[in-house]
Amino acid sequence: MTKKVYNFSAGPAILPTEVLEKAQNELLSLDGIGMSVMEISHRSKHFEAILSSAVSGIRELLRVPENYKVLFLQGGASLQFSMIPLNFLGKNEAADYIVTGTWGKKAVKEARRCGSVNTIFSTADTNFRSVPAQNEIHFSENANYVHYTSNETIEGVEFKYDLDGQGVPVVCDASSNILSKLIDIEKHALIYAGAQKNIGPSGVTLVIIRDDLIEKVPENQHSMFDYRALAENNSMLNTPNTWGIYIINLVCEHLKKHGGLARMEKKNEDKAKLLYEAIDGSDGFYFGHADREARSLMNVTFRLPSEELEKQFAAEAAARNLDGLKGHRSVGGIRASIYNAFPKEGVEALVDFMKDFAQKNG
Ligand SMILES: Cc1ncc(COP(=O)(O)O)c(C=O)c1O
Repeated sequence: MTKKVYNFSAGPAILPTEVLEKAQNELLSLDGIGMSVMEISHRSKHFEAILSSAVSGIRELLRVPENYKVLFLQGGASLQFSMIPLNFLGKNEAADYIVTGTWGKKAVKEARRCGSVNTIFSTADTNFRSVPAQNEIHFSENANYVHYTSNETIEGVEFKYDLDGQGVPVVCDASSNILSKLIDIEKHALIYAGAQKNIGPSGVTLVIIRDDLIEKVPENQHSMFDYRALAENNSMLNTPNTWGIYIINLVCEHLKKHGGLARMEKKNEDKAKLLYEAIDGSDGFYFGHADREARSLMNVTFRLPSEELEKQFAAEAAARNLDGLKGHRSVGGIRASIYNAFPKEGVEALVDFMKDFAQKNG
């Protein structure tokens, strides 16, 4: 069966066809072992090889230095909202949070249960359209760490630089732009990302954590929240999401084969440019949510003159096999998620549709 629909979903999101085809071919019998990857023990040498290859794939693509561990955990990026403060924010301690959208706000809510949260920068008053420049950020003296969201999936705003913590350990939620470009891992103490956008299927959370932060995990932590125990057990303190890790390994192989993250970034820039040009060239019929300097390459958010027209736009687009364009229920509007695996032809098809729609309804 061929895939006919362009999938603009924010996540779970489109995966490379090549990866799905390989998984399909190997579904019943993995590489000659006569069993499905879903049927074999996570302790088997076959699965251990897959896990080790997936870790190496992430290390190679993101150029992860030796003094960081690469973990594949469960509980989604949302569990990291809790695990980070549970490990690194004591009752009488403080952490800095930069809030540029809905996900950052959720991270603050969980951190507050553990200790004191200084929201050192928030764009809530202006409806999350921008990100601060590095020189607008002033860290608290007593901060154990600073947390930021490199790409806010719902509002479509993205940091164009890797935050410099100036001595404060930097923790980054990179769920929706990880692997879309090269980043400076060394600026970070911990990076986490739900897999279901650029890495693989839902049910796996990638965590890249620096060794000195692992040392700060409190003794007597609950085992499943304990980064040290999870790292020492190579993400296999309990049964991991074996299928998810298998697909992640295939995605990494695919990305390496197709030129790595520098190539991905260029492709992502080209795709996003097409869409933003269509918005800017529409004489105001379409208007972007994010400020120009903060526009996300992954989630392109925009509005139409009325909510009625937005509904009509999403419905007519779906009828033309352009699926998943309705904005998040909390903010409305239109959102086109164009992750790594989303093809340029799909963006071109959307641009054509946008022109048509504006002409008929403008
Ligand atoms: C930036 C960001 N952070 C966190 C989450 C929550 O991820 P999960 O559903 O894996 O818990 C999402 C989900 O879309 C996200 O986009």
